[in-house]
Amino acid sequence: MVEVLPPDAIEIAAAALAAGQLVAFPTETVYGLGADAGDPAAVTAVFEAKGRPSGHPLIVHLADPGDLDRHAATVTPEARKLAAAFWPGPLTLVVARGPGIAAETVGGLETVGIRVPDHPVALDLLRAFGGPVAAPSANRFGSVSPTTAEHVIEDLGRLIDYVLDGGPCPVGVESTIVDVTGSRAILLRPGGIAAPEIESVIGAPVVDGRSGPVRASGMLASHYAPNATVRLVEADQAAAIIDDAAAGGARVGLIAPFADRHRPSWQLPDDATGYATALYATLRAADRRGLDLVVVVPPSTGELRDAVLDRLYKAAAPRPA
Ligand code: TXA
Ligand code: MG
Repeated sequence: MVEVLPPDAIEIAAAALAAGQLVAFPTETVYGLGADAGDPAAVTAVFEAKGRPSGHPLIVHLADPGDLDRHAATVTPEARKLAAAFWPGPLTLVVARGPGIAAETVGGLETVGIRVPDHPVALDLLRAFGGPVAAPSANRFGSVSPTTAEHVIEDLGRLIDYVLDGGPCPVGVESTIVDVTGSRAILLRPGGIAAPEIESVIGAPVVDGRSGPVRASGMLASHYAPNATVRLVEADQAAAIIDDAAAGGARVGLIAPFADRHRPSWQLPDDATGYATALYATLRAADRRGLDLVVVVPPSTGELRDAVLDRLYKAAAPRPA
């Protein structure tokens, strides 16, 4: 059973990591499920707790941007510039894997995703532990990332040793992932740092390397959790879709950047940055209502709109069987 630790119980958490245990901790993006990145058994336990296929590489967290050279086999000029500009912060750099990172951590790849998180509790833990910490988002495979300690307990309470409770995560969506192993930066996942910011630092375009969901217009539907189906729609479609589904007897909820008389509904900020902060907690809240359908209207503006749309497309995409 998980033990919940206050955010200053750093020594207990660091000793647990050193002993090969699993410790969930807050970052500025989402809660991570931490393990010693150099310990194959600890890393294997992370995959088991998450129910995640072992070929999916984990992100490695460092305390100090200066430690990049210690764990990367080579650091390109692009990687160096981005680390200097955005660390600590919500940017993961995929670089050639160097010493101290177990092959199991990265699913046998020759590369590793590394970031320095911008959160005082995460940084205290990383400093006290004194080495690289592998940490995927602290949720079961296939569910949305946790942005509070309660979310971690919901998903993994029976499967991990500790969670450091640092309150809600301020960014709310995961880090941006950029492959900087070559001379061209490749965007693998939009996230907490917007692509134009990255482009202005490296002075070159970022190549879109996403193989992800098709950017189809109209509606996409899927199951992101046991009961609710998510439909991503434009603001002016929402009322008709809700009415149709409700007329057919479905229990329907709405998540939108505007107030609505429909119940249940959750109003999020129209700016994507504020929308992102609340998004995962809101999806979990909607799911707890036992709805058949959750209609979601995206934010209309803001730097993090790409990241929010990406997560909404994923929530609404048909799941692989
Ligand atoms: O904000 C975040 O990045 C959070 C916090 C905890 O730091 N972590 C996170 O980790 O989102 P995770 O494991 O849930 O997502 C990691 C993603 C996966 O989609 C994985 O495929 C990709 O990063 N990734 C990790 N290492 C990679 C590598 N070497 N090459 C390509 N993709 C990689
Ligand atoms: Mg994840």
